[in-house]
Amino acid sequence: MGLHFDVEATTTPTSAERLAEILANPGFGRAFTDHMAVAKWSADEGWYEASVQAYAPLPMDPATQVFHYAQAIFEGFKAYAQPDGTIATFRPEANGARFRRSAARMALPELPVEDFVAAADALIRTDAAWVPTAEGTSLYLRPFMMATEVGLGVRPAREVTFLVIASPSAAYFAGGAKQVTIWLSEDFTRAAPGGTGAAKCAGNYAASLIAQQEAIANGCEQVLFLDAVERRWVEEFGGMNVWFVLDDGTLVTPELTGSILEGITRESIIALAKDLGRDVEERRVDVDEWRKGVDTGRITEVFACGTAAVISSIGALRWHGGEVAMPTETPVADQIRDTLIGIQHGRLPDPHGWLHRIG
Ligand code: PLP
Ligand code: COI
Repeated sequence: MGLHFDVEATTTPTSAERLAEILANPGFGRAFTDHMAVAKWSADEGWYEASVQAYAPLPMDPATQVFHYAQAIFEGFKAYAQPDGTIATFRPEANGARFRRSAARMALPELPVEDFVAAADALIRTDAAWVPTAEGTSLYLRPFMMATEVGLGVRPAREVTFLVIASPSAAYFAGGAKQVTIWLSEDFTRAAPGGTGAAKCAGNYAASLIAQQEAIANGCEQVLFLDAVERRWVEEFGGMNVWFVLDDGTLVTPELTGSILEGITRESIIALAKDLGRDVEERRVDVDEWRKGVDTGRITEVFACGTAAVISSIGALRWHGGEVAMPTETPVADQIRDTLIGIQHGRLPDPHGWLHRIG
C-alpha cells in the first residue's frame, strides 16, 4: 500500500487577479502555488503523515542536521497543460527513480517511486489552476528530501522530511531563446570519481556557485565543468547536460562516468534522435575537440539540455583569454526542441509513453 496524501486546503488561497498576474509572467522559480505535499520518515516508523497542505514556512530547530551537513537531495520535472484540457507530467517515474538513487548515495531513505509520483499528482490536482497554458510555460515540480533530525552528530538522519513544491515557470534563461554563452571553469571542478556528481544533492549546487559566479562576472550565463582528474574531458554545465552536433548530423554527448548527472532530458534526446534517424554517440569529449571542432567546421552546434533549460543553444564558449563563437543557425537543436516540446505539450504523438496523465 502506497502513501495517501490527504488534502488540507489552504484558508488563504491566492486571489484570481494575483494568480492571473503570476501566470502571465512566471519567470523561473519565483512564485509558488498555494499548497505543498509533505511526508515524514523516521527510522522507527518508516514513512508517515503524508498530506497536501497550505504552502508555508517550515519551523526548524537551528541544530537540524540539514543546516550543518547538507544531507539533502532534490528533483525537478514539469507538468504541462494538454490540448484537451487535462494536465500531464513528463516522465515523473524517471525522476522518482533518480530520486531513489540520489537518496541511496546520500544515505537517505529511498521513497518508493509510486509515492513520489502520488505526492506530485496530489499537489498538481490541488493546484491545477496554477498550470500555465501559454507556449513554453509549465508548472515546475520541485520534490526534495532532507535530514530533519535535530543534533550535531555526523551520521545519517533518523528523521527525514520529503516535500514537493510547485512553481509556474517559463524559460530558465532570461531572454528566452537567444543563444547562451558558456564559461569554461578551469579552476573549479564539480564532481570527482567516487563523489556525488551523479546524485542530485544540494551540495553539488553549492559547490558549483563560485564557478557560476565567475561565469556571470565574465558575461556568461552558465558554467562548463571538466573532469576532476585530467581536467580536459567535458562533463556538464552547472545545471544541465551538453550535446554536440557534428557536420554529418551525428549527435554526441559525454558518456555517463559516475560524476555526471544522468539527465532525463539527455536520455529522452538519445531516444528522440534515434527516432529521427540520427546517429548518437555517448563518449568522452575533450574540451579541445570543442574548441578546434568549431574552427574546422566538424562541430556545427552545441546545446544544453535539462528540465529547467529545456534545450538551449550555445552561442559561445569563453575562458580566460579566449573565446570560440558558435554558428547562429541551429537547425538540429531546433528540430530536437520542437519534437520534445511537441510531445510534452501533447501536440505530437508520444511513442515512448512519456506523458503521465493526472487523473
Ligand atoms: N545536470 C545537472 C547538474 C542538473 O542539475 C540537471 C537538471 O536537473 C541536468 C543535468 C539535467 O537533468 P534533467 O534533464 O533530468 O532535468
Ligand atoms: C532542473 O532542470 O530541474 C534543475 O534542477 C536545474 C537547475 C538549473 C534548476
